[in-house]
Amino acid sequence: MALLQAGGLGHSFDCPLFSALALEVGEGETLSIVGVSGSGKSTLLHILATLLRPKEGDVYLFGKNIYSLSGDSLLAIRRNKIGIIFQSHYLFRGFSATENLQVATLLAGETIDESILRSFKIEHLLHSSASKLSGGEQQRLSIARVLMKKPKIIFADEPTGNLDQETSANVMNAIFDYVERMRAALVLVTHDMGLAHRCSRSFTLANQTLTRN
Ligand SMILES: Nc1ncnc2c1ncn2[C@@H]1O[C@H](COP(=O)(O)OP(=O)(O)O)[C@@H](O)[C@H]1O
Ligand SMILES: [Mg+2]
Repeated sequence: MALLQAGGLGHSFDCPLFSALALEVGEGETLSIVGVSGSGKSTLLHILATLLRPKEGDVYLFGKNIYSLSGDSLLAIRRNKIGIIFQSHYLFRGFSATENLQVATLLAGETIDESILRSFKIEHLLHSSASKLSGGEQQRLSIARVLMKKPKIIFADEPTGNLDQETSANVMNAIFDYVERMRAALVLVTHDMGLAHRCSRSFTLANQTLTRN
């Protein structure tokens, strides 16, 4: 069974962005989407991740049409089964790093995973206030927080945009390892062609459609 399946997707704001888009992602698969700025990558990711209702088409997560689900069932999927990594992170600034992790793990019924902290090199920052961390540390903390929810699908929008090359490689290795180990899936929007090609399938969003790279 596909973890994610979408068909006939179409969306527009002032201008049409895409139409008749279809895609499917299964267990253990990683899929990347590249494209010029403004082509609609973030919009597509938001639609796939349940954050935006498409003007046309359907999104199925775990075999269910998300717009036929009750509000509670959709909330449970968001809380327990999908993880979303945004371009800019949304940490609770007045909270410590640990508290930021606990918000997510408690809601998802999980616990803090020390091995993720070590692989992200943030284990020594747990008691610092989120607002005192550097941009890169905040980004790693927010990505660690998503992995600790143990999501079955990760949606990531240019997740390593503000990390240096080495840190970015460590973080992406951790995400790819996670997907393989958990038989999860990754939908990744990126500008980095090297990263795009590490995925099992890579697409470009252009001319209102997805084309395989
Ligand atoms: N909420 C919104 N309201 C109006 N226009 C939007 C909104 N979100 C995105 N857009 C427009 O849609 C286009 C695609 O945006 P986006 O999906 O962010 O592209 P990308 O991520 O590929 O850079 C842009 O022209 C952007 O200005
Ligand atoms: Mg974008």
